[in-house]
Amino acid sequence: MNILVIGSGGREHALAWKCAQDNFVNHVYVCPGNAGTFLEDKVSNINLDANDFKSIGDFSLEKDIELVIIGPEQPLVEGLTDYLHSKNIKAFGPSKNAAQLEGSKTFSKDFFVKYDIPTAGYKSFIDFESSVNYLDEIDYPTVVKADGLAAGKGVIICQNKKEAIKALNSIFNDKAFGSAGNKVVIEEFLEGEEASFIAVVSKDKIIPLVTSQDHKAVGDGDVGLNTGGMGAYSPAPIVSDEIHQKILEQVMQPTMKGLIEEGSPYLGFLYAGLMIKNNEIKVLEFNCRFGDPETQPILLRLKSSLVNLCLAAINNTLDSYDIEWTQAHSCGVVIASKGYPKNYESNKEIQINIDDENDTKLFHAGTKYENNKILTSGGRVFCATALGVDLKEAQQNAYNLVNKVDFEGAFYRKDIGYKGIK
Ligand code: AMP
Ligand code: GLY
Repeated sequence: MNILVIGSGGREHALAWKCAQDNFVNHVYVCPGNAGTFLEDKVSNINLDANDFKSIGDFSLEKDIELVIIGPEQPLVEGLTDYLHSKNIKAFGPSKNAAQLEGSKTFSKDFFVKYDIPTAGYKSFIDFESSVNYLDEIDYPTVVKADGLAAGKGVIICQNKKEAIKALNSIFNDKAFGSAGNKVVIEEFLEGEEASFIAVVSKDKIIPLVTSQDHKAVGDGDVGLNTGGMGAYSPAPIVSDEIHQKILEQVMQPTMKGLIEEGSPYLGFLYAGLMIKNNEIKVLEFNCRFGDPETQPILLRLKSSLVNLCLAAINNTLDSYDIEWTQAHSCGVVIASKGYPKNYESNKEIQINIDDENDTKLFHAGTKYENNKILTSGGRVFCATALGVDLKEAQQNAYNLVNKVDFEGAFYRKDIGYKGIK
């Protein structure tokens, strides 16, 4: 069987690496991939534009692709799954309509209210003046969110009215996020601890993956700018059995049911970003895909076949799929380029000195292979991921792996997993 993975990040390296482990898989193609997928056994990169649906469809038919896994949100929100299904190609990911859960914050917030899913209070706006008038009615801090996709940068936490005006001005008037900012949500600020709850969903059936926690801020102790994620670990002790059950009952099941009622049943990874406080949960956001970097530590723990899991979801047989995990803990530390998450450097030559990858895996993200060299090509460059008998050991193993990688300007957080260890 041949497989196609869409995307180029650390998540896609992990997806491709995991798919290639199945004996029944002949070859995994990654579009466009990175140096990590290029160097992986049984895996090759293809240079097609992920937004060129026809080329992806034609390639899938030509190579007898039996499963397409779509990593990033953009092609999902633009309808790549619908296109591939219309060509009878098996694709794992939500339809364009279901992907609106991530593609539009106003859609998702209205959906939460309609289906009684706990979330922060909010109001949405389509113009600067009325949004600014609303600022006198609320408490601070407050959260200003661009409606559409903004590569994780469209959420601005404002400590006072002045900051909120600045945020609204940049979105509505300066078009900081382009048309993604045609609408804005102003939302109540929530306190608590965040966790990522990711599941494989097919219509009304769900297989929750092991729990995880991301580290969004660029600096140790969760300070500084928000990033795509600087590291993650699994399991996340904040998600107790009781919280797990609440997430299923209060968030996942009503969402699956609501989407069926809306005529857009869900297929794919469904990711709820949650705020947890005093044993109560609220949804911060939904993502219509696997998380990055959560994918890397989660897949290092998955013992069963990812390919069969995705196919079971597509064939609506999740009920009879037995998912198996290692009890070991895992931790993934992102190594980033100097400047990230703002403008960052690239084209730096990378040295890697790894002889043994037992229970560890260096997942590539923003890397490329040129003239027999591995060069940096993105803000997040690697996710050094490792297992351990407990989180402390997993963390230590992950940092040992980090020390085997070097390039000019490399930096990483030194405290990935600290909340889980505390
Ligand atoms: P989102 O893309 O909506 O998950 O937002 C990105 C990050 O912004 C989240 O992971 C939180 O750290 C933060 N955030 C978003 N919404 C809120 C909120 N209502 N209260 C506090 N923090 C938030
Ligand atoms: N790690 C956060 C995300 O994938 O959006």
